[in-house]
Amino acid sequence: MWLETGKYWVYVIKENAFLKCSQMLAKCDLIYSMKQLNFQDMLNRIHPPKPDWYEEFFALAMEKSMKSYEAEIAGYKAKLFTKLRGKSKVLELGIGTGPNLSYYAGDGGVSVFGIDPNKRMEKYARAAATSAGLSSSKFIFTQAVAEALPVNDASMDAVIGTLVLCSVKDVQLALQEVKRVLKPGGFYIFIEHVAAKDGTTLRFMQKVLDPLQQLVSDGCHLTRETGKYISQAGFSDINTNMAYLSNASLISPHVYGIASK
Ligand SMILES: C[S@@+](CC[C@H](N)C(=O)[O-])C[C@H]1O[C@@H](n2cnc3c(N)ncnc32)[C@H](O)[C@@H]1O
Repeated sequence: MWLETGKYWVYVIKENAFLKCSQMLAKCDLIYSMKQLNFQDMLNRIHPPKPDWYEEFFALAMEKSMKSYEAEIAGYKAKLFTKLRGKSKVLELGIGTGPNLSYYAGDGGVSVFGIDPNKRMEKYARAAATSAGLSSSKFIFTQAVAEALPVNDASMDAVIGTLVLCSVKDVQLALQEVKRVLKPGGFYIFIEHVAAKDGTTLRFMQKVLDPLQQLVSDGCHLTRETGKYISQAGFSDINTNMAYLSNASLISPHVYGIASK
């Protein structure tokens, strides 16, 4: 829960805990952590600044190397993003170079809030927004992390996350943030690569190459069971599907779908 206190936004983590009091179990609502953190603090803590050359290299690599992936995933995206028609406020987690914008940003009424810790993504995402027909006043890029979204509670019609929960530091916190910022009845569209099935050669390869992947791909994990996290995040309704992409080798298994608040 975010509370505005004037100078800072204060992040309050609440937890239901059972305390043993005089031989009785009493359910208490504990505020166990109350820190004055603004979004910049959270950004620095969760995604400490990296050298400019690294951020630029990763942004350029995303811009140039994803063409065949995007071609193969296009059918899934086209179907999912039709749900965004008529929506006025959409937030994209880890927007990167903005490959999703062409599917929904041309819809005259939409404003897009793109967040990404890598500031070098902004110029690519802006160019993608412009070529999708989104006016610059309706595209806001903020350097931030999914774990601390810089928008108000219940302010977004939809949140999009594609290939991003593999990279966040705290998946559960990011999903709580998604729920926090969604309006009641708002929805979260996700497409994420996930761990292959246990016991498969692909899972073995993912495990071996995971540390290298994290190093070269800005913290991307190959072995996350992201579908489980989404299922357990407390959305009121979830439609989850699996897809296996032939062009994507190590990141072939994907979970995709829509979760409603
Ligand atoms: C593989 S790229 C995907 C970008 C884009 N969503 C797409 O589909 O191409 C992962 C993105 O997540 C961003 N990212 C990394 N850590 C993040 C975090 N904690 N919160 C939000 N985004 C993060 C990276 O900077 C990068 O732009």
